[in-house]
Amino acid sequence: MKSEDTKKLHIAIFASHTGTNMQAIIDACRRGDLNGEVCAVISNNSDSRALEKARIAGIPEYYLSNKTYPEEDELDEAICKVLTESGADIVALAGYMKKLGPKVLKQYKGRILNIHPSLLPKYGGKGMYGIHVHRAVIDAGEKTTGVTIHLVEEEYDTGKIIRQCEIEVLEGDTIDTLSKRVLERENAFYVETLKLISEAVIKL
Ligand code: GRF
Repeated sequence: MKSEDTKKLHIAIFASHTGTNMQAIIDACRRGDLNGEVCAVISNNSDSRALEKARIAGIPEYYLSNKTYPEEDELDEAICKVLTESGADIVALAGYMKKLGPKVLKQYKGRILNIHPSLLPKYGGKGMYGIHVHRAVIDAGEKTTGVTIHLVEEEYDTGKIIRQCEIEVLEGDTIDTLSKRVLERENAFYVETLKLISEAVIKL
């Protein structure tokens, strides 16, 4: 597909911690593998590696939290303002540990993605994040886990599933080995999915 057949996606990323998914998306845009541009990075955590990585990459980064905006409503407004001014077409949550407010959800309805390290609806919901997911998968003796990209709604992990991929749980896998393998797959899977969206193969 020629690049003129694809729509350049302006992507705003929300991340609370490490930001490996965020970095993978930035890198793919810069390599030209994805016809997109990360136009803003927002975090609720001023110490996050994600904000630091965005700074290093020269991407506008914003620390917006209930410390900078104690009123929920004002935080919601501030996030909407940043998204509008950055020209974001789409929002990608990548390890963002907060719920979004009603204004953002309305403004970007159907255009907010999240990545989750399991085959939703299994191992999703409140408290199911990071190692908690992988521990539950191993404890349940699952032979297969995976990655889900879904639309974001008010509740955690409930929106329409856009794309999933399966990952084998290997004999002897620990939380550590499994989480590393899943995260590596996530990084590539998020990029591939955004590429399919930019090519209108996936229509949101
Ligand atoms: C990923 O496992 C993602 O599925 C979950 O949070 C983690 C974020 O990792 N929502 P990173 O910050 O992108 O490295």
